[in-house]
Amino acid sequence: MDDRAAQLARAWTDAAGGYEEYFVPRFAPWVELAVNALGLDLPDGPILVPCCGTFPELPLLGAAYPGRAIVGIDLSPGMVARAAARAESWPQAQAVVGDACAVGPEWIGRCAGVLSVFGLQQLPDPAAALTSWVGLLCPGGRLSVAYWPETVEEDGPFALADRVRERGAGDDGAGRRLADAIATAGADMTADRAVSFPMEHPDAATFWEAMSNNGPLRAVAIARGEEALAELGRRFLALAPSDRPWRHTPRAHLLAAVIPAKPSRPPTS
Ligand SMILES: C[S@@+](CC[C@H](N)C(=O)[O-])C[C@H]1O[C@@H](n2cnc3c(N)ncnc32)[C@H](O)[C@@H]1O
Repeated sequence: MDDRAAQLARAWTDAAGGYEEYFVPRFAPWVELAVNALGLDLPDGPILVPCCGTFPELPLLGAAYPGRAIVGIDLSPGMVARAAARAESWPQAQAVVGDACAVGPEWIGRCAGVLSVFGLQQLPDPAAALTSWVGLLCPGGRLSVAYWPETVEEDGPFALADRVRERGAGDDGAGRRLADAIATAGADMTADRAVSFPMEHPDAATFWEAMSNNGPLRAVAIARGEEALAELGRRFLALAPSDRPWRHTPRAHLLAAVIPAKPSRPPTS
């Protein structure tokens, strides 16, 4: 594991308990949408869930595909410990520590489904990850990926967090390249669209605290130090509205695709 991946794994392990409590309920509509995008007519085979975190995908997958093997993969041992605890209620499910960018060769061409929610944007090469995930699928297998694009809102707490971190507006072509990677790898796109749901935070301070201790900004603290993160927090709170609660409607993106079934043999005459 390189330094960047090790830092990310540590950050998510530190964040795991609070992430489950704060973000999992708020992200639930996107998880449900991504599970539904897999459809119900999957071929035989396991379902892989790269970047499973605490595995909030599992209850819906377990109910939709009774008895089917479901495997969550995550870089962070702390996240996987929580995912494994959740998997105890589903004997056919398991969670393992692993890199979603390098899923073992034993899965290639065997999986009925690959489902990933809010992990893709953290990977060093998202297009390459999508290419490899398509390669895991068998004929008729389906891919469903929800991710946060570079710009998720024009106004709101995520936009303000990006502004104080001086994160640029991002690359307009990035989304196109992700869809292209899936198509080039041999899958037919079934969804390529923005998906917004309302979200609510008690106030700006609670949101910042959750992002810093229980969410993606934990990695900033590890990379740049607690004081640098605290300074960003002061700038965020100085600019944040005093509305209580703070409501917004961030925009994620859904990519879904299917591997064409093998053509049936032409009738012999
Ligand atoms: C925002 S959480 C999302 C978790 C879950 N899918 C959900 O919807 O709540 C992102 C997860 O991606 C994991 N992650 C980041 N890079 C990864 C990688 N290269 N391989 C596997 N997991 C990774 C993190 O450890 C973290 O648990």
